Amino acid sequence: MATVVLIGAQWGDEGKGKVTDYLARNADLVVRYQGGNNAGHTVVADGREYKLHLIPSGILYSDKQCLIGNGVVLDPQVFLREINGLIEQGISVEKLKISPRTHVIMPYHLKMDAIDEERRGTNKIGTTGRGIGPAYTDKASRVGIRIAELVDPESLAEVLENVLAEKNQLFTEYHDSTAFDYKEMLETYIEYGQKLAPFVADVSILVNDAIKEGRNILFEGAQGTLLDLDHGTYPYVTSSHPVAAAACLGTGVGPSKIDKVIGIAKAYITRVGEGPFPTELNDENGEYLRREGFEFGTTTGRPRRCGWFDAVISRYAARINGLDYLAVTKLDVLSGLEKILICNEYQLDGKVITEFPTTIKELSRCKPVYQEMPGWKEDITKIRKLEDLPANARKYLEKISELSGVPVAIIGVGPGRDQTLMLKNLY
Ligand code: GDP
Ligand code: IMO
Ligand code: MG
Repeated sequence: MATVVLIGAQWGDEGKGKVTDYLARNADLVVRYQGGNNAGHTVVADGREYKLHLIPSGILYSDKQCLIGNGVVLDPQVFLREINGLIEQGISVEKLKISPRTHVIMPYHLKMDAIDEERRGTNKIGTTGRGIGPAYTDKASRVGIRIAELVDPESLAEVLENVLAEKNQLFTEYHDSTAFDYKEMLETYIEYGQKLAPFVADVSILVNDAIKEGRNILFEGAQGTLLDLDHGTYPYVTSSHPVAAAACLGTGVGPSKIDKVIGIAKAYITRVGEGPFPTELNDENGEYLRREGFEFGTTTGRPRRCGWFDAVISRYAARINGLDYLAVTKLDVLSGLEKILICNEYQLDGKVITEFPTTIKELSRCKPVYQEMPGWKEDITKIRKLEDLPANARKYLEKISELSGVPVAIIGVGPGRDQTLMLKNLY
């Protein structure tokens, strides 16, 4: 048995959904532990594409239990829409459970997200506009509403009355905006609460019991290491902790119970939203990666910024997350390029640095120092064995592993479930 944490090792969209779905075959439980519906995880199974935002990517297997931990922020409207969409496609959500400690995204969080972004003007973060930051702010400020209150009309009425009065004052007096109607919101959210009530269960108990029983557990991260509130490119980050340690905090499991941590990294790198990005390509290579990799946001549809693989970042992700293995996705997208560049260090103010800098001021002055690798022409989307990959593709993977200091366990050669090369047995 094993407990495996799967995290994004870059700026998100590394292919976590696909890898989670692939590994879920051998898992009993699949657990989301942070973030919310800012995430967009695409899973392609049996020729069908599923876009998941809140529901763990193990949901396509009817025998797996999917759980949403306390570290997630959940928009009830989005949750209900997503489960209804899955049910319509014949997918069972019966085993899905949500922690009562999970915080709820309310309409005023979405409004605040939009107001904050507008106020930031040219310094905007480029959020997904899903109310994520304001929901986590309220959690930290101890004025949040949790699923436990949402499903209890009396508690909801009490807490909403207080918090909405404060929010409405803020909107009308400081932001020249309109107030929300308490009664209307209460009625709507009591109804959501009644619909969500059957899904509520103590996630910490479920996960810890499963660990005691020796079952296989997969913790599915959202976003990526560089979007982490503490370890990312602050302030151009999300408001949760996409790093591996959050799997414990976001579900109620002790760190001694985690067996392996897998970092998902694209064979190149992308970013959505604002903030510095040293290896960003604003040329035909960037266009090539966007076109061949179909790099458009799953949640917002925004074109993703594309660049060369950055080993300064993957070493940083290895350190912060304690990575045991890398899963390198989208290797197929590089097929056809004459040469491929890998960044291994930065030039900062005339000096060479090998560690990821702390501030975005420093990061935005960093110039990537590249190593050049020869490309390959062959289509690799049908290859299933490492030894069948073109020699230059294998050399490229070896270089990624060497510079990152982490062995590669999984390789992605296409979006489909079967387009995966498994080099190590993780369970
Ligand atoms: P996530 O947020 O980390 O789950 O990643 P997204 O789902 O937002 O973005 C990854 C995209 O790449 C999705 O459209 C996947 O279907 C696709 N994808 C994942 N792995 C591979 C791969 O190995 N090759 C190709 N071509 N596409 C992949
Ligand atoms: P998945 O799980 C890529 C980015 C946003 C923005 C910043 C803050 O699909 O990898 P937020 O709405 O969270 O306050 O936005 O974080 N961001 C993501 N970028 N993939 C994601 O999720 C993201 N979730 C948030 O673009 O720059
Ligand atoms: Mg995504």
